[in-house]
This record gives sequence, structure tokens and C-alpha cells, in this order.
Amino acid sequence: MEASTFEIDFEPIGKRVDVAPGTDLLDAARQAGIGLASVCGGEGTCGRCRVVIMSGYVTPPVDADRRFLTQLELTSGQRLACRCRIYGDVKVHIPKASLVTDQRLQLDGQARQLQIDQTIHAYEVEVPAPTLHDLRADLERVIDGLETAHGLRKLAAEPLVVTELSTRTRQTPNASEWHLSAYVRGHEIVGFAAPGQRPLGLAVDLGTTKIAAYLVDLETGEELAATGQMNPQIGYGEDVISRLVHADRDDVGKHELARVVREGLNNLIVALAFKAGVTQEQIAEACIVGNTAMTHLLLKLPVHQLTVSPFVAASSSALDVKARDLDLDIAPGAYVHVLPCVGGFVGADHVAMIIGSDLDRNPHTAIGVDIGTNTEIVLHKPNEKYLTAASCASGPAFEGAHIRDGMRAATGAIEAVLITPDEIKYETIGNAPAVGLCGSGIVDTVAEMYRHQIIDRRGRLRRDAPHVRKTDRGFELLLVPGERSGTGRDIVITQKDVNEIQLAKGAIETGLETLLEATHTPPEDIKEVIIAGAFGTYLNLDSALDIGLLPRLSNAQYTQVGNAAGVGAKMALLSYKERARAQHIARRTGYVELTVFPGFQRRFAMSMLFPNNKP
Ligand code: FES
Repeated sequence: MEASTFEIDFEPIGKRVDVAPGTDLLDAARQAGIGLASVCGGEGTCGRCRVVIMSGYVTPPVDADRRFLTQLELTSGQRLACRCRIYGDVKVHIPKASLVTDQRLQLDGQARQLQIDQTIHAYEVEVPAPTLHDLRADLERVIDGLETAHGLRKLAAEPLVVTELSTRTRQTPNASEWHLSAYVRGHEIVGFAAPGQRPLGLAVDLGTTKIAAYLVDLETGEELAATGQMNPQIGYGEDVISRLVHADRDDVGKHELARVVREGLNNLIVALAFKAGVTQEQIAEACIVGNTAMTHLLLKLPVHQLTVSPFVAASSSALDVKARDLDLDIAPGAYVHVLPCVGGFVGADHVAMIIGSDLDRNPHTAIGVDIGTNTEIVLHKPNEKYLTAASCASGPAFEGAHIRDGMRAATGAIEAVLITPDEIKYETIGNAPAVGLCGSGIVDTVAEMYRHQIIDRRGRLRRDAPHVRKTDRGFELLLVPGERSGTGRDIVITQKDVNEIQLAKGAIETGLETLLEATHTPPEDIKEVIIAGAFGTYLNLDSALDIGLLPRLSNAQYTQVGNAAGVGAKMALLSYKERARAQHIARRTGYVELTVFPGFQRRFAMSMLFPNNKP
């Protein structure tokens, strides 16, 4: 009789899962809750989901395996998890580089004076408990008390809030008085707490790769705790499109993607409350920003139109939704405010970045850049009513994808490099043995290669340059030999890696130049370049300028502001005025579609070259 399930044992994590015959290993890893790298979402085109079959029965290698793995690697049992189906109990080893490891999260932005016009007010109330002579219902009793003590009128509450009230007040059965704190938003009671417990707020920057979350005192604006984690949707593809396609396939896909991100948010809420020593019910309001795809997936909005030209959002307005409708475990009547987006490619996170960096109030002509898989650029001119944004498909190279030894900014990632003719020095995150290169390390390496003429303007590796060798893959720079690396494998930069960086930096350069031309802005008018986001925070500015990833603008100062989107989310959490400002910015930000701009292709081809002004 055929077995109905097989056991997969994932090592060295030691996780086991039972799955149906024919399940692929990527899916099995998902079922086991293991974050296996899968840039392409399981399409067999990224080569990131490598595993080693230690024992058991699986399907034989297919073309995709042969594309990414050498004969030797195949013979030693290496396979792409997404192309490998199981037909027996299997023991699998997951190499460190294939794991979606904890990433260094950029939580901090520039310290800002936050404006507070309270969204939630806490009112303490003392009312007599019911007796045979006073048969008022629980809610009406408290509403009467709030009117008497604070002059509040026309208050209402939803059933879930009433349930909390009735439960809370009967926790001390024989109390003759009820003493509690009501959290009020406008005319609505959104929750109850113990007297003296202040209402708190949750601000979230929901990124494609990472989620940053902050717990804030709504009365003082003080940040009580901050934390972050990888976006758990990563198991469904590291890029936005893979996830949108998955969600667009059917309702099951859409619910799955919403469920995992909502679970992720609840984990963060638990962690924040624990860190700050507060209860989750004290969180009476939330504000979430994210790119357009992320907010659509969270809200279960239709996403098909985001996957096809002209790539429009289902809604670009700010939305107030109940936290319970997003399954968030905070005060029962709490609202979540989702900031507005500019369009399909420029999301609420970018709007938050603008308010978080005060770009719209900059006294000079300035640009804001948030470098990522999609790099958003926005131009502000002090005397013009409109801002102008563009989005460049810079690709995931800066996240380490499509780079042979690329990885995210996690422990063991090389983040800084110095090349001399005799040796290559490098620093890794956490000073751990090197296991790969993160974005800042890749940019640093390519800049050093260009400075030392190991590559020319076209990005071609010089065969006779120091540290360059030839293998069956072609020419490559040996950064760390296997005996010194944390994986036992050589860490290299290949010719293809250099070309990937050229493509990415070319996309950004083209976007910037096109944006300036479309808005008739001479480059010398730019007085400030604001670089936001995690990658931008750790980026070595000189290296970025030397390879043309950022333009050398004669009159501009460059400011790295950290997670400005997170700061913007906190600002909007604390203030209705900031929410109105965000809405205003979203409405008056124009969008330049780069690809239809005359001369785009020619400009893009030219921008692949490294700058002439060699350092
Ligand atoms: Fe397997 Fe991309 S090749 S997930």
C-alpha cells in the first residue's frame, strides 16, 4: 500500500514535516515554517533555493538544476528545492546561504520633533456597579459616567468593545464601584483599560523584505519599543511580482499572503508589548505604510491590475479600517490608518518617507531616493505646487539576489571591502566568518575594482589584474578563498555580478536623469540628495558616487536619513494633521513613466558605463 505522507527532515535546523507524495521541497519547507530563499517564488529561475539531498527518494534533476548547478554539485546531491519532488522519506541539508536569515533591520530614522494632536483620548471613569435598584446596562452605565465626569456626549461602542467592558468589570465580582479608563476616538469608545494605563499606538513600515514596527505613547509621542522582522511573505517569492501573481491566482493564494503577513504583524505586536511591559489592549490605534503591493496584499484588495500595464492601484486613498478586520490583536475597537499611495509604483511608504524627511518642506530643490528592488525617486522644488516621482526597476541585486555569492545584510555578510595589489580586506556583519556579500559589500567591491582598474568603464574584468582568475564560469575576482570563508566555498565576484550591478545602477541613473529632464531641472539646481531606507543607510557614499549609483551633483549635499518611512508612519500615527499632509502629498505628486520617455533606451544603455571621472 502506498504511503499517504512522507517525512521530510530538514537539517541542520532539525525540523521535520509530513507532506503528501509529490510535494516539492520548497513547499515542504514552507509547511515546516522554514524561510528558504526563493527570489523567483519557486519558478526555477533564480537558483537560490539550493539544498542537499542527504538520503531518500526524489525526482531526478531537471534542466533548471543543470542551469544553476555543476555536474559535481549535482553528483554530491545538490538540488533546487522548488524543482525537486519527494517520493519517500527524505533528509535534506539546507546550506546557510539558502536560508532567509535574520536580517539587519534599519529601524532608526533621524530624530524628529513629532507633532501630537491626539487621535485617541483616555478618560478615567468611576461608576457604581449594578444593583437591584440600578439596572442600567454595562455600556450605558459607563457612557453616563463619562458624560457626567467629562462632558462627553453621543458616545457609542461596537459589540466587541462592549464584550471587553462586561468581561473586564466582572473580573472583581463583588466590587461596588467600577474604575476604568476608556479610550475614545471621536465619538467612539475603541477600548477599555485599567485606570492610569495610557493609550498606545503602533506604527509599521511594511516592506517587501522587512517589517519595522514601533510602539509609541499616543499622549507624549515617546517611542517605547521598536522591533523588526523579515516579511514572512518571502517564502512566496522575494520580489513583489511573484507574490502578486501568487495572490492573483485564486482566493486561496490571496488569503494565504494576507494571513502570513497578518501573523507576522501579530508577532511584532506581542514582541513590542513584551519589550515595553504593556498589554496589547493598550494599543488603541495603528498606522501602516508600505509599498502599494504590500498594502494591497495586507488589505486583501484586488491585485490583478497591479500586475498588468498600466499597473494601477485599486485604491490610492488613505484608508481607515478596523484592526480586527486585519486580524490584529490590539484594542477591540482600534482602527488602522493606512497612508495613501501615489500610484501602482509609488506607495504609501514613499509618501511616509517624504513627510519623515520633510522633503516637501525643504527650502531648496532636493531629491529623495529610496533604493531597493524598485528605487523610488522624488523631486521637490520649493516654488512649485507639485512633487514629481519616478520608479526605477533597479532589481534585487542590492538585496544580494542575482549575485553569485550575494545575500541579505545578515550575519557573515561582507559589508565593506578594501583591495590592495597584495590582499583584499573586508568586514563582515557581526565579525563572523564571511558567507557572502550584502548590497553595501557588493557596491564597495565593484567600486574598489573600478578604482584599481580591475574592471574598465564597460565593466569588463581585466584578465591580468591582481586577484582575478579564470574558471569554467569565466573570469572572476576571488574575494575570500574557501579555506577562510564560513561556508568552505570560495566567495567571488564574477563578470556577471559586475554586469548585474551595472544594470541596477544604470536603472537608477537613468531614472534620475530622466526625472530631471522631464521636470526641466538643471542638475546644478539640486541642493540636497536625501538617501532613505536600510540599504541607503549602510551604503558607502564614496563608493556609490564612484560607480555612478548616485550622481555627483556639484552643489548637492548628501544626507543618509535611515528609515524615514518609519518616522513618517509614527508622525501620521500621532497626528491627524500629518495624515492630511500625507494625503495632500499623495494628491500633488506627479508620476513620470520612465520607459515611455523619449530616448529612454539609449540613455539606459549609456548609463551602464561607469563614470568617466575616475577617482
Ligand atoms: Fe527555486 Fe527560485 S529556483 S525558488
